[in-house]
Amino acid sequence: MANVSLPPGSWLGLLGGGQLGRMFVHAAQRLGYRVLALEPEADCPAAQAADAAIDAEYTDAAALSEIARRCAAATIEFENVPAAALESLASHIPVFPAPAAVAVAQNRIAEKRLFASCNVPVAPHRLIERATDTERIDASLLPGILKTCTLGYDGLGQRRVATIEAAKAAWHELGGVACVVEKQLPLATEVSVIVARAQDGSAAAFPVAENQHRSGILALTILPARIDAELAQRARQWALTIAGALDYVGVLCVEFFVLSDGSLVANEMAPRPHNSGHATIEACTTSQFEQQVRIAAGLPLGDVTQLSTAVMVNVLGDVWGRDDAMREPDWAAVAALPGTKLHLYGKRTPRHGRKMGHVTCLATTHATALERANRVALALGIEPFG
Ligand SMILES: Nc1ncnc2c1ncn2[C@@H]1O[C@H](COP(=O)(O)OP(=O)(O)O)[C@@H](O)[C@H]1O
Ligand SMILES: [Mg+2]
Repeated sequence: MANVSLPPGSWLGLLGGGQLGRMFVHAAQRLGYRVLALEPEADCPAAQAADAAIDAEYTDAAALSEIARRCAAATIEFENVPAAALESLASHIPVFPAPAAVAVAQNRIAEKRLFASCNVPVAPHRLIERATDTERIDASLLPGILKTCTLGYDGLGQRRVATIEAAKAAWHELGGVACVVEKQLPLATEVSVIVARAQDGSAAAFPVAENQHRSGILALTILPARIDAELAQRARQWALTIAGALDYVGVLCVEFFVLSDGSLVANEMAPRPHNSGHATIEACTTSQFEQQVRIAAGLPLGDVTQLSTAVMVNVLGDVWGRDDAMREPDWAAVAALPGTKLHLYGKRTPRHGRKMGHVTCLATTHATALERANRVALALGIEPFG
């Protein structure tokens, strides 16, 4: 398909209302586009920034037809938009990524099959659809992690299991839904690659990001990852191969594990910009959000050259303190730090584990960027990073 670029002033539809959508809106508006957001929760981060917002369910027929009528193209910032809603919209206007690609990214087993079909290694695993499947788990998969095939995020919908009995109990605890059990691998580090692929099939991979999680939630991203160049090149190539195999049009994030023996294993993917790509706003010529806008608008992809080393610190609701002693964090202390950029998402209610904002620390070296990240951590009462 050839790129047909939309003139400035055109409307882009956005399904989803979180911070990823908010940052998409910022990028769209900078290029002169307007955004109509659809999200069930009023006053969400994207709706606060969008040119217009509809506060309705994703499947609301009137809402979808309004988007189809007013917008020239649409995109998503949340992968669990029901497939039916995307398909109905896609029968009227172009939707990026296509509903079929989103469906793959909604399901862990479909993702693993896609990765394997691209000759990209995945963790040894088994699909668990009924209780008796747990009895057939091969001993080589234990200790393992049982994960729901759909709707898991930030470590939710997962249980570590060491025995078949534990796997059976955990499967019931997770609601008896389709799950995968995968071998717990010895991780040296975790990395991710964000790929932008345009309507004409041209594609660009951002530098590899190195990710540190705490309690299953991304805590810190280091850009570029501190891994050797050959491994980084392989990760970027595999992410591009996966996007090509899906004929994907949009922004795609592929998460990888780097194992203690130095090998690379694909974990999962997200059919949208990703938390590990936030530093691209300041650190790269074109951000992941601007790529999403360019793709929807049919513009050429932007240059993904990295201009600065960066470390991103996530700001979770936890920094407000516990429920019985909540206080506004000292934003002025963060704002005063050199080389740091504070982003807050406009969410009114801080909660444990809720992503409220992030801080990007820029520097010419990893050591200085990390030192700045630790100053941010100190100012916000976050445990220091190693
Ligand atoms: N097979 C595995 N071996 C070791 N650690 C794992 C494995 N699967 C997941 N993890 C850890 O759990 C985190 C969350 O798992 P993931 O599959 O990415 O789910 P989600 O991000 O959707 O919550 C990973 O980032 C990693 O730290
Ligand atoms: Mg993950």
